[in-house]
Amino acid sequence: MNRERLIEMAFAARENAYTPYSHFRVGAALLCKNGKIYTGCNIENAAYSVANCAERTALFKAVSEGEREFEAIAVVGSLEGEENRIITAPCGVCRQALYEFGGDDLLVIMAKSPKDYVERRLGDLLTLGFGPANLDK
Ligand code: THU
Repeated sequence: MNRERLIEMAFAARENAYTPYSHFRVGAALLCKNGKIYTGCNIENAAYSVANCAERTALFKAVSEGEREFEAIAVVGSLEGEENRIITAPCGVCRQALYEFGGDDLLVIMAKSPKDYVERRLGDLLTLGFGPANLDK
């Protein structure tokens, strides 16, 4: 897996972030097990709670195109005009959304730059996650 490329794609996706309210811009790039990459940005709304995070934008784009198996996701975020001071870790809702398809093994790459990042398995970010296995009959 080419982490640098995935992170660069997350930065490119962040260019499209629609953030007139928080001015916090996030980009994500989701790598499928088949090698395809889907990107996403956060999309806010005048009704604030309707905002969609970058991670879920990428995930929903991918799933709606038929993808179900994922290997890694790169996430970058920063306030407008500020350069990636700290890493952006996926919010709780995004962790749960990703868990549905990525499970414990999904690699989450949280980057300040293509060469400066922290990575964790989703199972470490969402311990004892509730997923499809819980509903197995
Ligand atoms: N946001 C994301 O897109 N991903 C994250 O991991 C954290 C938060 C967005 C939601 C909202 O548009 C803005 O960042 C501020 O919370």
